[in-house]
Amino acid sequence: MGVKNAAYVAADEAREIVALIGSGSDKVIPLLQEIQKRHNYLPEDLVEAVADEIKVPVADIYGVATFYSQFRFAPMGKHLIKVCKGTACHVQGADMLSSVLSEELGLDGEGTTSDMEFTMETVACLGCCSLAPVVMIDGKVFGKLTSSKVRKLIKGYRDGKN
Ligand code: FES
Repeated sequence: MGVKNAAYVAADEAREIVALIGSGSDKVIPLLQEIQKRHNYLPEDLVEAVADEIKVPVADIYGVATFYSQFRFAPMGKHLIKVCKGTACHVQGADMLSSVLSEELGLDGEGTTSDMEFTMETVACLGCCSLAPVVMIDGKVFGKLTSSKVRKLIKGYRDGKN
């Protein structure tokens, strides 16, 4: 039994994805969405293999992918933390939340922790300004946060309690 190399595996998966979604330039976005749904980001070897499969230049595919903010080009942590930097949150201490989170997570600003547990990013208004300052973790909103609340929150996720 041979061990498949990464390119072979990507080609295999690319064929599977194209069979599912279809080919043609109008399918580029659905194809990218399917890749991201499976991997949480767009692995380079898989994007190249899909480009190959549908005979579209890989540069054109990246041209589309970079246009839409929904696509990610690097692996994401298990938990996604969105720190709101909208006006209401800014006024209520969003910068403080960001620094506490960076410190807790050992990050230099936004990014993903080395253990791949958390990805932190800043976003514009999350639509719940009365709860400012707000962060969203894995789609769940946490409002009226203070530095101690946010530290507890992260500890809860680390301990698997949230
Ligand atoms: S400004 Fe943060 S939720 Fe609106």
